[in-house]
Amino acid sequence: MILDRWQRPLGHLRISVTDRCNLRCAYCMPEPDYVWLPRTTLLTFEELTRVTRLFAGLGVRHVRLTGGEPLLRAQVADLTAQLAAIGTLDDLAMTTNGVLLAAQATRLREAGLRRITVSLDTLQRARFEALTRRDHLADVLAGIDAAVTVFGAVKLDTVLMRGVNDDEIEALVAFAGSRHAEIRFIEYMDVPGATHWEAAKVVSRSDILRRVQEAFGDIETLAPDGPAPASRYRLASGQVFGIIASTTTPFCSTCDRIRLTADGHLFSCLYATQGLDIRTPLRTGASDEDLVALLTTTWQQRADRGAEARLSAPDRGAFIAVEDLRRAPQ
Ligand code: GTP
Ligand code: 5AD
Ligand code: SF4
Repeated sequence: MILDRWQRPLGHLRISVTDRCNLRCAYCMPEPDYVWLPRTTLLTFEELTRVTRLFAGLGVRHVRLTGGEPLLRAQVADLTAQLAAIGTLDDLAMTTNGVLLAAQATRLREAGLRRITVSLDTLQRARFEALTRRDHLADVLAGIDAAVTVFGAVKLDTVLMRGVNDDEIEALVAFAGSRHAEIRFIEYMDVPGATHWEAAKVVSRSDILRRVQEAFGDIETLAPDGPAPASRYRLASGQVFGIIASTTTPFCSTCDRIRLTADGHLFSCLYATQGLDIRTPLRTGASDEDLVALLTTTWQQRADRGAEARLSAPDRGAFIAVEDLRRAPQ
């Protein structure tokens, strides 16, 4: 086990398999300014599997594929199979916007994907189009249904923004209940690139709990699920939901995540604006020992507590300039 400067062990690896996306969520991807990475800079499946295997040797047990939109990476199920074959991972998951999921869910499951999380910020078609600049809500809902059928369970992630979609809290809880899905409401975060963030748009955990309690009655608080960011709750009906309160209640003290961008840069925090290039050593003949030394040092030198730092940052709410456009995978 390796520890960082705050004695945090390394446990989760989040891999962005592409920076491309078929949606344009305003809080994530400014349009038309964002320029996709050249394809030759993307790590190959062999490179991704090698890095993951080395990370597994350093204690990583949970791997999540994300993006951009991971289902846009050609043959991502083949990568899933290669990662599953490493053999020592306890968890192999994916966060997707769901647009392409209906067609791929079965293949992903067969390849060894264990869990799936779909982002869903609204159930209203016109609002979905306004938020994502694309008319794909029906595809996302079909993707969720396919995932429920194939995986048996699915999580839904909803970023709540006051005055934008916070009037849908009750409808989203009801929808999740109807699909036996665990919905998690995420407090809007001022991560690098979130150019429209304002403190007034954050719907806090206490606001969310009050609204859910008014609509659905008593709420039981469940024990936390390891260092995962969500606090979890149960309704009298048995339905479980979560809240990711990383804006008002950062969980930096237990954060065990490292992030790898599609073009091979390691980010030690979601709020980091600069990554460490590991593509160059990967492509210039570094041995496994060289790479393990680099990964180990990177984790041991990690001192980030990004969400906590933002709590008192003087430029909170101002545009956060992104020095390094290879942003940390979310
Ligand atoms: P499981 O609970 O294991 O299913 O995974 P998870 O909670 O990591 O789920 P997911 O990948 O869907 O992450 C949910 C959301 O939590 C992300 O979209 C982010 O908004 C937030 N999040 C994830 N990782 C971090 C992190 O390292 N720091 C902060 N501040 N927020 C995070
Ligand atoms: N605040 C909170 N969540 C965000 N996500 C993207 N940007 C933000 C932000 N600024 C979420 C997406 C998706 C997941 C990958 O990250 O909505 O659920
Ligand atoms: Fe695409 Fe996800 Fe960003 Fe939306 S939040 S534009 S779905 S990567």
